[in-house]
Amino acid sequence: MPTKLAPSLLTADLTRMGDQVQEAIDAGVELIHIDVMDGQFVPNLTFGPMIVAALHPITRAAGVPLDVHLMVKRPENLIPAYAQAGAGFLTVHVETCPHLHRTVQQIKELGVKAGVTLNPATPLCTLEEILPDVDLVLVMSVNPGYGGQSYIPGSTARIARLRQMLDERGLSQVELEVDGGIKASNIAQIASSGASVLVVGSAVYNKTSSVAESVAELRKALGED
Ligand code: DX5
Ligand code: ZN
Repeated sequence: MPTKLAPSLLTADLTRMGDQVQEAIDAGVELIHIDVMDGQFVPNLTFGPMIVAALHPITRAAGVPLDVHLMVKRPENLIPAYAQAGAGFLTVHVETCPHLHRTVQQIKELGVKAGVTLNPATPLCTLEEILPDVDLVLVMSVNPGYGGQSYIPGSTARIARLRQMLDERGLSQVELEVDGGIKASNIAQIASSGASVLVVGSAVYNKTSSVAESVAELRKALGED
């Protein structure tokens, strides 16, 4: 299976958000990643459900799911609004969910694919019991809060261990996503450690290359162009 790319809009030109999403779709990406930050769980504050609803007609027309990463406290209060807005995946942090099983069921009952994620210092064993219930697991390879940070090198071993945990349980259909600091220089190594979806923010939305050029460079680095 070719590795899927999920550009994050954090470093996009937000004065023309719809165009920036369309440019990524035209470049052939598989998902669009939306980083939702609440100013509480993480210091930054970003995109509400109205933004997701505004972008959804563009992504729906192309059959590209919106991959919504909830970096928020009490995500259960916001999940219905993001589901209604058109999220294809909703991913919650284990650090924010004392009743993770209930939260995952809540997402699925709304007809949305459920993802779980964890910060770089949170042990992978916190995911062990929930793996059979989810559609996606996300390994954070930076501390959440900002785009343009450096990849934490220990993440590669965590991806490989999580791939092993999924394979041992016969859960190869679960997407293994990685988020933070992914560039042309490290993307091949990250993909070969077992990731199936790669979030790419500043490597796609930056001031040096067009979106099309950036996506082509990443595919080339993956050896899948
Ligand atoms: C960090 C976000 C990431 C990040 C990716 O909190 O979850 O999605 O913006 O951006 P880059 O690829 O620039 O690290
Ligand atoms: Zn993210």
